[in-house]
Amino acid sequence: METDSPHPDPYVPERNEPLVAGVSNKIGSVLVVGSGISGMQAALDLADGGYYVYLLDSEPAIGGLMSKLDKTFPTNDCAMCVMSPKLVDCGRHLNIELVTYADVKNIDGVPGNYNVEIVRKAKSVDEEKCTGCGDCVTGCPSRYVVRPPAEGALYEPETTADERDFIDRLLREEEDVEGNLLSVLQDVSEYSRYLPEHVLKYLSDKTGIPLARMISVATFYDAFSLEPRGEHTISVCMGTACHVKGSGLLQSRLEDILQIQSGETTADGKFTLQTVRCIGCCALAPAVRIDEETFGFVMVRGLEKILNRF
Ligand code: FES
Repeated sequence: METDSPHPDPYVPERNEPLVAGVSNKIGSVLVVGSGISGMQAALDLADGGYYVYLLDSEPAIGGLMSKLDKTFPTNDCAMCVMSPKLVDCGRHLNIELVTYADVKNIDGVPGNYNVEIVRKAKSVDEEKCTGCGDCVTGCPSRYVVRPPAEGALYEPETTADERDFIDRLLREEEDVEGNLLSVLQDVSEYSRYLPEHVLKYLSDKTGIPLARMISVATFYDAFSLEPRGEHTISVCMGTACHVKGSGLLQSRLEDILQIQSGETTADGKFTLQTVRCIGCCALAPAVRIDEETFGFVMVRGLEKILNRF
């Protein structure tokens, strides 16, 4: 692997040589593929044991799936509380080099002596200079610009007079917008049924709160969406309890009935279908929530009857 690593030529052990620090008195380098909670822990253990570790992930940031969870099953522990210390430790550990936004292309060699070819995707960010301020996200010319209106789009690209009135009224009523950003976004989401980028941009212009901050809050919570949502949101629980009770079948059947995939909205704008992780009523598994109403012990044959109520 070509790398700018400050680590002087990682040691490559001979064939069959024990790869245990302190036994051979020699230290090798290790590649850990995947930087979820297990990958991070493996990297930390190896690094503490004296190995130089390349922690690789195909995403731009480490953390994996767990970084997207609010709570973990079955203990209901806060996911970020568990993983944040590990994120920091991995970022600071002198024996760990993060290789993000990269994929393994080829592996050859024998156990203890592998050559790994890695493809790094273009980041368009100078990692030496990046301080993580997020300003580049705000000014990104391709990702967060107001999109031109697509044919049949459910929203206009520019704010309407009604939207501006709504935001202005909201700002007059809210004294500390930055401190109460979550509830402000909830109000916007209720008003528009999602968080339109052009409205967020208007809000950002009026308050000086960076658009990137609003986007990061909006994408952290399942309750928010940056895409137009239907009149009703159907959430199929795919948490462990519901999954083992067959919620996958419910999801497939709903996709058939509505003719959309999870994450999409029906053409008439009536329903949005999504999957969620544990909605907190595992005793009712498999559970489905439509808007604020929860349905328990749902059976495939009962789905149409439930939908007809909406
Ligand atoms: S797994 Fe808890 S409600 Fe579905």
